[in-house]
Amino acid sequence: MKRIMITGALGQIGSELTIKLRDIYGADNVLATDIRENDSDAAKGGPFSILDVMDGKKMASLAENHKADTIIHMAALLSATAEANPVFAWNLNMGGLMNALETAREQKCQFFTPSSIGAFGPSTPKDLTPQDTVQRPTTMYGVNKVAGELLADYYYHRFAVDTRGLRFPGLISYVAPPGGGTTDYAVEIYYEAIKNGRYTSYIEQGTYMDMMYMPDALDAIINLMEASPEKLIHRNSFNVSAMSFSPEEISAEIKKHITGFEMSYDVDPIRQSIADSWPNSIDSSAAKEEWGFKAKYDLSSMSIDMLNKLKAKLG
Ligand SMILES: NC(=O)c1ccc[n+]([C@@H]2O[C@H](COP(=O)([O-])OP(=O)(O)OC[C@H]3O[C@@H](n4cnc5c(N)ncnc54)[C@H](O)[C@@H]3O)[C@@H](O)[C@H]2O)c1
Repeated sequence: MKRIMITGALGQIGSELTIKLRDIYGADNVLATDIRENDSDAAKGGPFSILDVMDGKKMASLAENHKADTIIHMAALLSATAEANPVFAWNLNMGGLMNALETAREQKCQFFTPSSIGAFGPSTPKDLTPQDTVQRPTTMYGVNKVAGELLADYYYHRFAVDTRGLRFPGLISYVAPPGGGTTDYAVEIYYEAIKNGRYTSYIEQGTYMDMMYMPDALDAIINLMEASPEKLIHRNSFNVSAMSFSPEEISAEIKKHITGFEMSYDVDPIRQSIADSWPNSIDSSAAKEEWGFKAKYDLSSMSIDMLNKLKAKLG
């Protein structure tokens, strides 16, 4: 039976992952932590502690008291927020990761942290971006993610910590709002389509980015963590993607379900330049070959599910 501790558990991913892990491994076996508290199921449906990931001593003592054998490190500043405050982003993203890796080393825990398509940059091949390729990102977030991938590999080789990671694309979900990434438009558009029948995109037409629906992202984390170690050639981190689309393509998909939906554009130069530095679509074949990654949702099936779930949520 796993004993899991999650950092940043009230964020877009953590708030759904915590619940899914509690369903699988038992509520008491999953300790959720975050710098803030709220009334969500993740905070109230099982053990929860306030934890600032910059406090390495408290992190270690929470993990020890929980008898954790697995650490899932989610607390981080995302791409657009990190670009607005790069020094703070470096301190939080690298300092928090170092504390989490040290806790995993000291307490012999398996370890997961997400990387991102942001770990690629303008000199990376843009189409079918390979698993192993040039990684020279031009954003602080990307610099943090590349350094994080290397650091997690270092802990595996140097200290035999069982570190594993995924390069997530933009994640689309309806439970918790996204936390300041460049792909957030692909979540906001569904909310605005239902509430107002229109959306103004801060990303320019013709900009392709990889995306994935949250249920597939959660399955990917769990399947990677359960995979036999001898099958893993790579560790930190695997390319995973389910679809790649442009703003006009998601708009066209939504129009099939919401008649009269209107899309306009007011491009944000900062987020557009981040998007332009990322791949159009990445190649997930290493994840498929090494641990059987498979995404169930494409743009069409995701849009139907998102709109149904959001209509129920927003009344
Ligand atoms: N959501 C995506 O589309 C996406 C894509 C690629 C990678 N990722 C990565 O996945 C991870 C989680 O992303 P998310 O979307 O859930 O982020 P989020 O911004 O929604 O959530 C982050 C959580 O961390 C918490 N947090 C912030 N500072 C903290 C601190 N000092 N100590 C403890 N907790 C703190 C926040 O309160 C928040 O609940 C990040 O590493 C992110 O880079 C996310």
